[in-house]
Amino acid sequence: MATTTLAPGLTFLWAPILLISISSAACASSILGTYPAIFVFGDSLSDTGNGVLSGSSSALRTTQFPYGETFPGFPAWRYSDGRVQVDLLASHLGLPFLNPYLNSSADFRGGVNYAVAGATALNVSLLHSLGVNTSSDLSLDVQISWHLDAQARAESSDGNIAAFTEGLYVIQIGGDDYTHSYCAKYSPSFVISTLMPLVIQKIRNAVETLLSSGAKNFLFISITPVGCSAAMLTNVDGNRDAYGCLEELNYASYLHGVRIQEEMASLRVLYPDVSFLYMDLFGAYDYIFKHKEMFGFSEDLKACCGAGDEYPYNYNSDDVCNVESVSVCSSPSEYILWDGVHFTDSFNLQIFNQTFITGSFIDTSHAFQ
Ligand SMILES: *[C@@H]1O[C@H](CO)[C@@H](O)[C@H](O)[C@H]1NC(C)=O
Ligand SMILES: *[C@@H]1O[C@H](CO)[C@@H](O)[C@H](O)[C@H]1NC(C)=O
Ligand SMILES: *[C@@H]1O[C@H](CO)[C@@H](O)[C@H](O)[C@H]1NC(C)=O
Ligand SMILES: *[C@@H]1O[C@H](CO)[C@@H](O)[C@H](O)[C@H]1NC(C)=O
Repeated sequence: MATTTLAPGLTFLWAPILLISISSAACASSILGTYPAIFVFGDSLSDTGNGVLSGSSSALRTTQFPYGETFPGFPAWRYSDGRVQVDLLASHLGLPFLNPYLNSSADFRGGVNYAVAGATALNVSLLHSLGVNTSSDLSLDVQISWHLDAQARAESSDGNIAAFTEGLYVIQIGGDDYTHSYCAKYSPSFVISTLMPLVIQKIRNAVETLLSSGAKNFLFISITPVGCSAAMLTNVDGNRDAYGCLEELNYASYLHGVRIQEEMASLRVLYPDVSFLYMDLFGAYDYIFKHKEMFGFSEDLKACCGAGDEYPYNYNSDDVCNVESVSVCSSPSEYILWDGVHFTDSFNLQIFNQTFITGSFIDTSHAFQ
């Protein structure tokens, strides 16, 4: 960027003018490489190994084939046959794939991934008090406390402090609060009226904590239309829409994104010097899903890897995709769903293209171009 050629004392003075010229001229100037690190808070859609390292038995399957068969070609502790969104984002920003926080010997120069499969935004104690089972105790509060520890350690040694203030803070969480609640027979209307405000408040609190420890760049990612997941279609009753998805669950998923955007609007007013970006994963998913042939997908609701064709969506919660699965599709690139809950490498690539690359489902649209 041009600022690097300025004398250090001038950098700050010139920065606002530079920003104005970028936004008004819609110039192609690249912001790539301006984030020295990424910090990710989330669930299995972002997990790159914390689930396994935390000792979760359900995460063990990600250490076995066919997980990772498409990329990198062997199991990589991710819930996919390939890459997850934060892998694609890290590469796009010129950073290495993010190591999971729980690998204490890893190199964290490009940032830290705190996401854990099964993690909820809400404290598990609260969910348990409602009779909602969870598959991980490592909720958003815990992930934030990990981060504060990591930052304190960096500050007390000669760690890279700038990474913590200049880095990009990615938050994608909430889907598991909702899906676990549906499995406990809570209705979408209960989720919308009672749980969602708590989830949103929890995310807001997390942002406030990160802001007070110096974070300046945030990226919120909405949740997926969980009513189209094989797991929900198998385990939850409800009205089906024209595409065969659970209508009310998808409406709740959609509303979560609306609420996040409302928080973001208020944060932008309160903190005008902080960058708040929004990736509309729900919108991009909906678009690709409804034009699936255009993107090379033939299967939208059926898992590529699962328990067998006697299950309508090739999904059975007691026998989720694993090394012994009787049914693994031969071309995962034609499937949206990898194991009935998570996505294929090719779907993740298409989502990435429709958001970060083309700018279609990103606010601000040019943020990553
Ligand atoms: C942790 O990270 C190191 C360095 O990248 C790597 O060699 C090692 O395999 C990782 N260990 C685990 C258990 O993930
Ligand atoms: C759970 O929530 C309470 C109040 O919101 C908080 O004080 C506590 O630290 C949380 N527990 C964990 C394990 O994060
Ligand atoms: C929660 O877990 C307990 C213990 O495994 C089980 O008995 C119960 O049926 C589960 N509840 C739901 C809603 O899945
Ligand atoms: C990304 O999306 C654009 C617009 O839909 C399309 O033209 C382009 O071919 C896509 N790129 C890839 C790699 O799929």
